[in-house]
Amino acid sequence: MAKWSGIVAVVSLTVFLMSVTAATVLPIHPYLKVEDTFISQLYDTSNYGFLQIDNGLARTPQMGWSTWNFFACNINETVIKETADALISTGLASLGYTYVNIDDCWSRSTRNLKGEMIPDPKTFPSGIKALADHVHSKGLKLGVYSDAGIFTCQVRPGSLFQEKNDAELWASWGVDYLKYDNCYNLGLPPQKRYPPMRDALNDTGRTIFYALCEWGIDDPAKWAGKIGNSWRTTDDINDTWISMTTIADINNKWASYAGPGGWNDPDMLEVGNGGMNYHEYKGHFSIWALMKAPLIIGCDVRNITADTLKILSNKEVIAVDQDPLGVQGRRVYASGPDGCQQVWAGPLSRNRLAMVLWNRCSKAATITAKWSAIGLEPSISVSMRDLWKHEVVSENIVGSFSARVNAHGCEMYILTPRRATRSSI
Ligand SMILES: *[C@@H]1O[C@H](CO)[C@@H](O)[C@H](O)[C@H]1NC(C)=O
Ligand SMILES: *[C@@H]1O[C@H](CO)[C@@H](O)[C@H](O)[C@H]1NC(C)=O
Ligand SMILES: *[C@@H]1O[C@H](CO)[C@@H](O)[C@H](O)[C@H]1NC(C)=O
Ligand SMILES: *[C@@H]1O[C@H](CO)[C@@H](O)[C@H](O)[C@H]1NC(C)=O
Repeated sequence: MAKWSGIVAVVSLTVFLMSVTAATVLPIHPYLKVEDTFISQLYDTSNYGFLQIDNGLARTPQMGWSTWNFFACNINETVIKETADALISTGLASLGYTYVNIDDCWSRSTRNLKGEMIPDPKTFPSGIKALADHVHSKGLKLGVYSDAGIFTCQVRPGSLFQEKNDAELWASWGVDYLKYDNCYNLGLPPQKRYPPMRDALNDTGRTIFYALCEWGIDDPAKWAGKIGNSWRTTDDINDTWISMTTIADINNKWASYAGPGGWNDPDMLEVGNGGMNYHEYKGHFSIWALMKAPLIIGCDVRNITADTLKILSNKEVIAVDQDPLGVQGRRVYASGPDGCQQVWAGPLSRNRLAMVLWNRCSKAATITAKWSAIGLEPSISVSMRDLWKHEVVSENIVGSFSARVNAHGCEMYILTPRRATRSSI
């Protein structure tokens, strides 16, 4: 096996991409026999794009924090500064959570006489530029929110037909990220409403992450890769088990479309907001990472608990999300009542696989992953590492693996086949 280095990473990723993009062939897992084509369908990446929007961003899914899930409209410049400080003091920023995103409600409800959006003078008296300067001084980045309609969902000014002026204003403030919502859209098709903002952001000359929030209505995975760096595939998440699992299943359908430059977005994290238990949040985070989802924290980081911090700062799980291969993992097997004992898996760089045993049943269960179900030849010997216990389970597992998993809990692993047959990927 070739020795790992940054150069090998780039070369093998490039080779992989050429094979995917040039011939639109499946990236058959290196350990599969060619005749096992039914298995290779597991990790179908026939729609995988690579830097289609060409703004240099989103090589890996974006990470950061957003106001919405915890604060909704109850925001102001103080809470955002305090959160930026908390991202630093908790160590989350140094793990990659660098975007500090203001969601809806930062803007006054009317534009000024020049037609410009203005920060709400009551809650953002110092303005967004001052906030951007503060956030930048900490090495973080600032995001704002607007809408591809005439109003935002909370009835602040939207940017439809005002894309150029709004983008220029945000760029002049030093904004680094835009979440672009879908309310009050006059019934115009999203394929008409979202590209003008891409072009307006590009014309500013400032590098600005473009996150589409079209709620998955018109199957954005099919067309958004050339428009934005991520696209919501579902309705808004809420802090419940049913919402989180429903969204995971919908997002899973679009796995073949994710890739460096543009990601499926199953919405922001609810971890730490209190509506789910520790096991459920651990599953939420593990599955989001396996699915190469944006990892945007949605809790009050200033008041974070040890359990929440433990989940959000699991470096090994974050590394799965941020793996340079950029192939979205997916559900590959389900058994038990209503298929609630599930195996999710996906290929990683350096010939590895990530795997989550996800128990969506209401009782503890033993879940088994057969190698054939996750795309490995049955005779392959695998070294397995547990990403939550942070230890090697075994250096030599062949054929299948079983583990007891808590009700609504998960276990997550990286599998490294020991008999390398090919040195790349
Ligand atoms: C700012 O927002 C936070 C969070 O909602 C709130 O606790 C605080 O009272 C607000 N501060 C001001 C000055 O409005
Ligand atoms: C604008 O788009 C071009 C190509 O379409 C790209 O090369 C350039 O980096 C983009 N600039 C910004 C600021 O996004
Ligand atoms: C949360 O999401 C679930 C599943 O999508 C939905 O049925 C429920 O109505 C939502 N709850 C709230 C309070 O929005
Ligand atoms: C901090 O979190 C605890 C629960 O984890 C909660 O009881 C408390 O009200 C929170 N404090 C603030 C200021 O939000």
